[in-house]
Amino acid sequence: MISIIGSGRVGASIAFLCVLNALDDVLLLNRTKDKAIGESLDIASAIPNTSKFSIWGTDDYSKLTGSSIVIITASTGVYLKDRTENMDLQVNMIKTIAEKIKQYCPNAIILLISNPLDVLTYFFQKESGLDRFKVIGIASSLDTSRFRYFISKKFNITNSTISNALVLGEHGDSLVPIFSNVTVNGTTLLSMMNNADRDSMIFDIQNYWKKLRIYKGRSQFGIAKNAYDVINTIINSKELLIPASVVLEGEYGENNLAMGVPVKINRHGISEIQKININDFESTQLKNSSNKIRNDINSIQI
Ligand SMILES: NC(=O)c1ccc[n+]([C@@H]2O[C@H](COP(=O)([O-])OP(=O)(O)OC[C@H]3O[C@@H](n4cnc5c(N)ncnc54)[C@H](OP(=O)(O)O)[C@@H]3O)[C@@H](O)[C@H]2O)c1
Repeated sequence: MISIIGSGRVGASIAFLCVLNALDDVLLLNRTKDKAIGESLDIASAIPNTSKFSIWGTDDYSKLTGSSIVIITASTGVYLKDRTENMDLQVNMIKTIAEKIKQYCPNAIILLISNPLDVLTYFFQKESGLDRFKVIGIASSLDTSRFRYFISKKFNITNSTISNALVLGEHGDSLVPIFSNVTVNGTTLLSMMNNADRDSMIFDIQNYWKKLRIYKGRSQFGIAKNAYDVINTIINSKELLIPASVVLEGEYGENNLAMGVPVKINRHGISEIQKININDFESTQLKNSSNKIRNDINSIQI
């Protein structure tokens, strides 16, 4: 069973993708029960004819029992200028959810989507006590999709010609696109750009969501697709190499925080954190990013 906590825009979009692809039974759990029931009734009409699939909605956490994957998209409110607005409220919320998951489905793999992503991934793992490799914050893969989008736009090329593009660090203004390993049709990206081009692309990736916010409010479909890819990997025993947020224990020189790093995912969750080479400029940026996350974590009144 795939359980989705939070039946707002993102939760409903992930449920829709799972149902369309007949991945598994889906449970929508929402603070306001009617919304979960309404979304599940609507999405149920999209079940493929060949599927025995079921989807239903609830506000009852005990229904999480038996979940193999839980995706957390709950949000207490809309942030306006920064993903860390409402941080205290979101941390309190994630701690309550962690308690419920520990009680009802302690063996599930958890995908965190709610913001501030890295801070919540950290507090969820600490509060639940679950294996850190079973608690996966999904966001850096979305930032990577945006990085790839800007590369393909700048050089008027298809996405498939781009290799090794990754965004690491915070899912926030300090995110770090890793240019040094990227190739386009076998040519290194940095040989095709000067520093001003690079900095302008970094700015564009970091500010993508602010532009989106002006027109739409919040992102929805890109994150849903990225979350769906991970769910599909786990349910169908595939392998996926993406950047994702995970609590670090010495990897990349960091402890006591979660941030986006390259990970291998299989049916058990994260199987490995990969060490990749990055240049000095990127290392400095990544340190700034981890410091930003650490300051946010330390600012929470426990
Ligand atoms: N990781 C990423 O890259 C990424 C991308 C996009 C969005 N996000 C984040 O994803 C989250 C969801 O975004 P959204 O646009 O879907 O928000 P949304 O439409 O406001 O939906 C949030 C839902 O969470 C529910 N909720 C609140 N507290 C809950 C609780 N304790 N238990 C169960 N449900 C609860 C709300 O219920 P009510 O019906 O009672 O209000 C609401 O339906 C936000 O934190 C957003 O910042 C992350």
